[in-house]
Amino acid sequence: MESKISLVRDEFSAELDRAENSADLEAIRVKYLGKKGPVTELMKGMKDLSNEEKKSFGQKVNELKAELTDKLAEKTAFLKEQEILKEIEATPDFDISMPANLGEGSYHPVTLVQRQCEQIFKSMGFAVEDYAEIVSDYECFEALNIPKHHPARDMQDTYYLDNGQLLKSHTSAAQNAIYKKYKDALINDGVPIKAIFPGRCFRNEATDACHENTFFQMEGVMVDKDISISNLIYFMKTMLSEVFRKDLKVRLRPGFFPFVEPGFELDISCLICGGDGCPSCKHSGWLELCPCGMIHPEVLKAGGIDPEEYTGFAFGLGLTRLVMMKYGIKDIRDLNSGSLKTLTQFTDDE
Ligand code: PHE
Repeated sequence: MESKISLVRDEFSAELDRAENSADLEAIRVKYLGKKGPVTELMKGMKDLSNEEKKSFGQKVNELKAELTDKLAEKTAFLKEQEILKEIEATPDFDISMPANLGEGSYHPVTLVQRQCEQIFKSMGFAVEDYAEIVSDYECFEALNIPKHHPARDMQDTYYLDNGQLLKSHTSAAQNAIYKKYKDALINDGVPIKAIFPGRCFRNEATDACHENTFFQMEGVMVDKDISISNLIYFMKTMLSEVFRKDLKVRLRPGFFPFVEPGFELDISCLICGGDGCPSCKHSGWLELCPCGMIHPEVLKAGGIDPEEYTGFAFGLGLTRLVMMKYGIKDIRDLNSGSLKTLTQFTDDE
């Protein structure tokens, strides 16, 4: 009987050494520790022994059973570790947490043109201001001479929040805050207000190639004593000639906006034909670019500035539109597409 125990132990050890995977281990477990295995056989064989022998032999069989079980568990753990190591070795050599390699990155075309405009206006002494995207009804409409229920509100439907605030439908929404910020320096120290404020605007629009619900404008204002339409024309012509790197002609046509009086649409000579007339300008020689005008007295008053003493001009440049014209982008939706294939093509010096 004793020799049978050591035979089982030796055979088991030899087989365990050869085991290469979990399937082999399971087969060994069933073979040696299963119901029909040698350990069970040995247990059964004890019935013919004396009580004394049963005791010592039973102990030995139990020890054998425990030993086999332990060795099996040990080898199982060892093989598992080997499998994991093998898997690690087989995986490609990269860091899964690294960001995608997209080259050096590039600026969005709107950012490029916005920065260029900022640079030009800064060089002419304008401050560049940033403003919120969520504003009050007062800032967006009432302070701009558009009272509640005025039909002019229909021109700019936007998105309203539950608390009565709204997503600004034009950068003009910052005008009131700008006047209030700079009026003391104007009134007390005679420093003219000269500021531009680019920003994202929103309108409740159905989108197509020319319309987006999210777009960029760049507002500009200048307020001082004796500001006239000539000042407006000068600054606009200088800025646009710089952006397009061409000496452009500009013209004003009448346009209605409740916050300017008189109000204009500013056109530039066609970039393609230079003013002779072509399909791009519908043979008129002109492209409509930017609404503007002399700031309405009520708007100055709302900003704490006396319209009897001061005058000013304001313009609302469609930055998104300017970008499309500068780079020849035909579909406005490309700009919000997030498509790097499209948006990485533009550079500063085009
Ligand atoms: N805020 C106007 C718009 O978005 C544009 C504008 C700005 C007109 C300033 C005149 C003066 O339609």
